[in-house]
Amino acid sequence: MLKTIPDITIAVDGYSATGKSTFAKMVAKDFGFLYLDSGALYRAVTLFALEQGYADGDRVDTDRLIPALEGLDVHFGEGSKTFIAGRSVEDSIRTLRVSSSVSPVAAIPQVRAYVDRILHESGRNGRVIMDGRDIGTTVFPDAELKIFVVADEQVRAQRRYDELVSKGQSPKMDEVLANLRERDYIDSHRETSPLRRAEDAFVMDNSDMTLHEELVWLRGLVMGRFGILD
Ligand code: DC
Repeated sequence: MLKTIPDITIAVDGYSATGKSTFAKMVAKDFGFLYLDSGALYRAVTLFALEQGYADGDRVDTDRLIPALEGLDVHFGEGSKTFIAGRSVEDSIRTLRVSSSVSPVAAIPQVRAYVDRILHESGRNGRVIMDGRDIGTTVFPDAELKIFVVADEQVRAQRRYDELVSKGQSPKMDEVLANLRERDYIDSHRETSPLRRAEDAFVMDNSDMTLHEELVWLRGLVMGRFGILD
């Protein structure tokens, strides 16, 4: 652990399955920061939309979903886990079914405004590391440290495949790869807050990095930027 970590907000953005959340969780633990996964909120809204019949595959019934957001209670609960009302949805939001519908749902401006409100509220006290697609550009444009994570496409597909298998699912590699490509495309081409690197973000390509190397890289960055010595 570094001696004194300043009260900063760290924004971590990047394409799907680049290992952003694994990285951010590890940093949160090491720095004693709060970790918040913004994608989990988009996934929770998507799960809700699927369950209510407002979404199916890549079709979304915006006329019904948007008004329903008003009564929807999605929030971070204990251990930064995601809840819909009183129900933990941490596992059910990670299925390929949700992954296949999440990008069109996340492209709806009213959904983004809904999620942004929760993120601002949850991260308002600082000492937080948040991961997503538009944290450094839109949600916390003043974050003191911004990281943009990239990784080779095949490496990303393998990571996502392994993750699904470890959760007891039986994905097909070609479907996993197709889903990644589709989400990358939608996420970076949508009109509202598209995925892009903030100009002042540091790029981390972790295709060939171990988690430990990622942590050492970030610590070095924090030490250099904030003048802290280990
Ligand atoms: O990080 P993830 O794969 O769990 O994110 C799920 C989806 O949510 C992703 O395809 C795009 C969307 N998302 C977004 O649009 N903006 C964010 N800040 C985080 C996620």
